[in-house]
Amino acid sequence: MSTVPVAAGAAPLPVLLQGRGIGKTYATPVLAGVDFELHAGEVLALTGENGAGKSTLSKIVAGLVQPTDGTLTLAGAPYAPASRQDAEKLGVRMVMQELSLVPTLSVAENLLLGRLPQRFGFIRGDALNEAAARQMALIGLQDIDPRLPVSTLGVGYQQMVEIARSLIGECRLLILDEPTATLTSREIAHLFRQIELLKARGVAIVYISHRLDELQQVADRVMVLRDGRHIDTRPMRDLTQADVVRSMVGRDVHEGLDRERRRAGPVALRVRNMTRGTAVRDVSLDLHRGEVMGLAGLVGSGRTELLRLIYGADRKDSGFLQGNEPKLALDVNSPVQAVRAGIGLVTEDRKSQGLLLPQSIRVNATLANLGAVSRGGWLQGEAERDAVGRLRDLLRVRSDSIEQPVDQLSGGNQQKVVFARWLHRDCDILLLDEPTRGVDIGARADIYAQIDRMAAAGKALLMVSSDLRELMSQCDRIGVMSAGRLVRIFERGQWTEQLLLEAAFSAYAAADKPASQEQSA
Ligand SMILES: Nc1ncnc2c1ncn2[C@@H]1O[C@H](COP(=O)(O)OP(=O)(O)OP(=O)(O)O)[C@@H](O)[C@H]1O
Ligand SMILES: [Mg+2]
Repeated sequence: MSTVPVAAGAAPLPVLLQGRGIGKTYATPVLAGVDFELHAGEVLALTGENGAGKSTLSKIVAGLVQPTDGTLTLAGAPYAPASRQDAEKLGVRMVMQELSLVPTLSVAENLLLGRLPQRFGFIRGDALNEAAARQMALIGLQDIDPRLPVSTLGVGYQQMVEIARSLIGECRLLILDEPTATLTSREIAHLFRQIELLKARGVAIVYISHRLDELQQVADRVMVLRDGRHIDTRPMRDLTQADVVRSMVGRDVHEGLDRERRRAGPVALRVRNMTRGTAVRDVSLDLHRGEVMGLAGLVGSGRTELLRLIYGADRKDSGFLQGNEPKLALDVNSPVQAVRAGIGLVTEDRKSQGLLLPQSIRVNATLANLGAVSRGGWLQGEAERDAVGRLRDLLRVRSDSIEQPVDQLSGGNQQKVVFARWLHRDCDILLLDEPTRGVDIGARADIYAQIDRMAAAGKALLMVSSDLRELMSQCDRIGVMSAGRLVRIFERGQWTEQLLLEAAFSAYAAADKPASQEQSA
């Protein structure tokens, strides 16, 4: 049923990896009877809804998870890696959806972990940093100092370090699990150039993404999983985006690029002269009730940092907040004060800042709102369970029960829990940092519907996204950040993708260099 891709005028590419009857069962089956082939020198896109089994299948191939059923062969030989190291020895590598860098080590140490240049038992720092810098330049990261601890970089940069790491050493098969979820078009272009080079060397690539326009650019074939089953694999050139969506979710999904501007109400929050180092420089803006404002910009432009300053998560050098009453300053110097002032933040980094991973969906969803479910300090068991159950259904979180630990959920479903938490808490001003990161196209429509509902209820929303199409479809205004400054605010109707991009680049030097790193810690 799969078609062999043919390079122009060349013989069919040889099969590198073959899977037969692959299955995985935890409490319930999550993969069943999956047959597939992967050819040397091709990009196979793997798509499907959140929880469909994409990461699980990839982890089986990369040795991180063992299948319950089925067999794999690599270049004709039986292949059953017992660990990630096993797989890497055979040239099979994976960039994980959840970042696995060590935050306290430097960029260089993370990149070359296990390959540290040594002499008489001492690690040679200069050699290490040079090797790291060369590796980073491959994906266009020459501006990052390899000596910086990874924890000082924003999630977008961390994701790129993770990718650079997997490009080191011998590689026959590379799996990229949502590599671009927080990257903007500039970084994605660098990544795609590397993918082309790897393909030309005969490396087989599995590419997982919920951004369908990317799949159209990089993929030779598209494999669709639904509920752990292999639905279809077809050449990308035979498919439209709508075809892919239909086989993923079994229905049509509309994006609504041409929505009307929402009616903006009075000002809910005035942000004045926010400044922190070079990351955020003198940013002022007004958020109105009933509207959704977007924030666009390159990785490192200061978008996340601005949200964190408004939320009181980082200390500002200067600047202040006011509510509707201009004379009244809002005292927000910590997240606790922010929540009291009615401000919520959906974070981009669900692993370190968003969720308590070993805890259940129920605990995580109610974390921000214990007040609403408790009386006299005691949790009202039943009311809480009802509320969380409703949210889970509303956002279609795929799980066995609301008691399931969040670290057993798929990446996109974890993101829905982060979002559910703030739906549960009734705040007036909601800051959203990449709210649909890794969320599938159907569930994204559910999140957009909730954003709409909140705006209609008079809340003010400020949303950072690296996906310009998302901003253009959902927002009433879009502010563009560049090198820490808010360089321009567009009204709906004024913007085009080209104008937004030009603004995003405008404050950088001619050399096209983001000057500072987006701080995340
Ligand atoms: N350790 C585990 N224990 C129990 N269930 C698990 C475990 N790991 C994954 N699952 C379940 O397996 C199913 C498939 O998850 P997987 O991460 O493969 O989905 P995915 O297709 O990658 O989704 P996403 O697009 O959200 O990343 C999910 O329902 C998930 O909850
Ligand atoms: Mg996944």
